[in-house]
Amino acid sequence: MTRAVKSSAKADPWWHDAVIYQVYPRSFQDSNGDGIGDLRGIIERADYFSWLGVDAIWFSPFFTSPMVDFGYDVSNYLDVDPSFGTLADFDEMLAVLHARNIRVILDYVPNHTSDQHPWFAQSRSSRENPKRDWYLWRDPGADGRPPNNWQSLAGGSSWEFDADTRQYYCHTFLKQQCDLNWRNPAVREAMHDVLRFWLERGVDGFRIDAVGCLAKDPALRDDPPNPHFRPGDPPFARNIMVNSANGPDIMGFVGGIRKVLEAYPRDPILIGEVYLKTGEIAPYYGAELTGLHLPTNFNLLWTPWKAAPILEVIGAYEAVLPVGAWPDWVMGNHDQPRIASRLGRAQARIAMLLLLTLRGTPILYYGDELGLEDVAIPPDKLRDPFGTNLPGLNQGRDPERCPMPWDDTPNAGFTTGDPWLPIGGNGPGLSVERQRKDRSSMLSMTRDLLALRRKEPALSRGSWTPLPIEGEALAYLRQHAGSRVGVLLNLEDEHKRLRVAEITTGNVMFSTHERQGRQRIGQDVELAPNEGLIVAL
Ligand code: NOJ
Ligand code: CA
Repeated sequence: MTRAVKSSAKADPWWHDAVIYQVYPRSFQDSNGDGIGDLRGIIERADYFSWLGVDAIWFSPFFTSPMVDFGYDVSNYLDVDPSFGTLADFDEMLAVLHARNIRVILDYVPNHTSDQHPWFAQSRSSRENPKRDWYLWRDPGADGRPPNNWQSLAGGSSWEFDADTRQYYCHTFLKQQCDLNWRNPAVREAMHDVLRFWLERGVDGFRIDAVGCLAKDPALRDDPPNPHFRPGDPPFARNIMVNSANGPDIMGFVGGIRKVLEAYPRDPILIGEVYLKTGEIAPYYGAELTGLHLPTNFNLLWTPWKAAPILEVIGAYEAVLPVGAWPDWVMGNHDQPRIASRLGRAQARIAMLLLLTLRGTPILYYGDELGLEDVAIPPDKLRDPFGTNLPGLNQGRDPERCPMPWDDTPNAGFTTGDPWLPIGGNGPGLSVERQRKDRSSMLSMTRDLLALRRKEPALSRGSWTPLPIEGEALAYLRQHAGSRVGVLLNLEDEHKRLRVAEITTGNVMFSTHERQGRQRIGQDVELAPNEGLIVAL
């Protein structure tokens, strides 16, 4: 299967002006009434993606899995889990999306396999098994305790004792998610073959799950204590993960993955999940940009919703980007509380405008275009073990994973059966069907913005320059070739009159609000409460 590796990296790849939409397949559309979204459901909804105007879809995992972590515990990387469909369904889905010019990005989960993966079954069968070294096995520490103090992100120690072979294995997440040993060349080769399998089928790239965990300290040194730990924080926050994650050898492994992709002429994208502050992201682009194309940038999600810290985060990221590296922005995903719950409905519109007008590739989480909020889950319906393992600590991710509300029928058009989680949308009001008919809805606004972004190169690929402004508002310029666009965002629920250098006159191209008869702005720009504007200068 190996081909001559020659870099196909282009100076101006397709994903520079793409908008990526994340689908969590369990919650998008059920086609067979079992209450779980599936690939045929996604095929049924394919027109929605083109109607909305996104360019690529990143699918959370649909591979064979016991579903302890709902697909992030893979037991066969080379097949589709029966709850999601078959490989034939996948091929059809890919064809249907490609026919609409929508690219397909898969979730690649290289740090760990399910404990049900045949590799792990062999590995745990005896210390002499040839696959023993495919995972991270260690003798017990003093008094039979775990080899070190590393904490699992799903609660408890990162080490699980195997009574039969009297060693511990490492799991950064659930004990059913066993960490692979990427230092073993056979593991790398097997995992590269996984990439080739899907690339041969025609996919357009990958998002690497938990890439920062791929290489741990070979000496297994303890993680140091976190001086900022507070009672009520989850137990894994007791330590700073300097030895259990983000080690110096990771980029070698990422470079190997990147080389596999570069053998394919269609410019596959390599995104990697990194949860790092702006200052720490840059190394993941790799020396001479041979690493991730887009290390995910979550910083806007963590920043207090105030002008100064938002500007600081944007400026800091722009400042640390290596020459030629391309930025990206994330406002939500299947692990984070919904943006509309964090900011409220009015500011969720501003957040969407910010996401779609910054320089860089936006990654948009399904349902955020509807302004979905976190759904309160009754205790007997909680599904996520990351939450139920740590009761009372608010770690569960079910609230942001609820099914998409398509219409106002009882199960919202998502399923004819019993949905695996309560439907999102908090009752009628936020459904796709209803919002499509409403020109002022969040969905219509998002669609308009996506169309404008596609039409206006200053927005998709222009430079970004902050403009000085007083108070709780943001102003910046986007410029490309001859076109200049100003963006103004009111971060508060109050009327504002702003005077912004460089935005002295221009035509309103877009507003989060109705703006009849006020299409031209003068030196003083009036912004309604929570209003955002895009102005052609
Ligand atoms: C990050 C994924 O986004 C999350 O959902 C998952 O639980 C962990 N990695 C483990 O795979
Ligand atoms: Ca189904």
